[in-house]
Order: sequence, then C-alpha cells, then structure tokens
Amino acid sequence: MSDLFQTETQIRLMVNGQKVKARVRVGQHLTDFLRQELGLTGSHAGCEHGVCGACTLRVNGEITRGCLMLAAQADGAEVETIEGLTERGVIADLQQAFVHRNALQCGFCTPGMLATAADLLARGGVPGREVIRDHLSGNYCRCTGYEAIIDAVETVARARAEALK
Ligand code: FES
Ligand code: FES
Repeated sequence: MSDLFQTETQIRLMVNGQKVKARVRVGQHLTDFLRQELGLTGSHAGCEHGVCGACTLRVNGEITRGCLMLAAQADGAEVETIEGLTERGVIADLQQAFVHRNALQCGFCTPGMLATAADLLARGGVPGREVIRDHLSGNYCRCTGYEAIIDAVETVARARAEALK
C-alpha cells in the first residue's frame, strides 16, 4: 500500500525509563497510546483538545499535552508519565502536600496538576502565589477552587528551599 494511505507506523521510545517498541495507528494521540496500549492510565483524557491539562506529562523533559501529540510523533522521545514521576520519588513531598492540604477531591485533574507543579518546583526557589497560579493556569480543576492546590505547591517550595539552607 502506498505511504499515502498508511494507517499504522512503528515507533520506538522510552517510557518511564523503559524501552518501548510498538505499532501505532497514525492518528492515535499519545495519551490514548499510553492508556490503552501500555496501561498507564495516570494520564487522563479530559477535553482532548489541549484545554484542560488533565493529560499533562513530560516529553524530553518538557511538560506536554498528551492529547495534542500523536503517538507517532513521540518516536525517539523520552516520555515520563505521572507513574514514572511517582516511581522515581521526585514528587513524593508534593503528593503528600496535596493530601495534607486537601488539594484534590475527585482526583481527575491531579496527575496533570502534579506534573505541571513539579515542573515549576524543579526550577528552584520559592515562587510567589501569583507565579504558581500562572504556571498552573492551563490545568483546570472542577472541585477544589484552586486555593488548596496553590497552598500545597507553596508549602513544598518553601520546604525544599529550607532544606537547601
Ligand atoms: Fe489534553 Fe484536556 S485532555 S488538555
Ligand atoms: Fe476534581 Fe480537580 S480534584 S477536578
């Protein structure tokens, strides 16, 4: 069949530190590939057009909307999902802070929120509440009213800065 009508392609990528080789439908977005083919259901599919942030993950170290990227475009990339961040232990303090501050209710937004907050915290320092709010502004939460989420991120930023003294 001509490439013009190609419906599948083979990709190789790293997902959470593991080599993955797969045949994917050319129109399948990354979130669906991770959820349906690899069982990594921490990346949530909400709006599926780049608005809500529920699908946020890391691609080559950058936070990325999994619903706006085709799995085929991730060929050769390093992808890290909320499962990988959790297994590495790099967001354990943030996850604890979310629990202590009641920064989640239904939890649908939480993986994307954590991935986005982790990206800000990795820059170091203690960002002001407006900076935190701005950084998380692409992640929607229907439940919490956001204040508790800002509190949790601010708490972790302060604790990390204190630990470096
Ligand atoms: Fe990707 Fe909403 S599901 S931004
Ligand atoms: Fe329900 Fe954020 S906790 S959408």
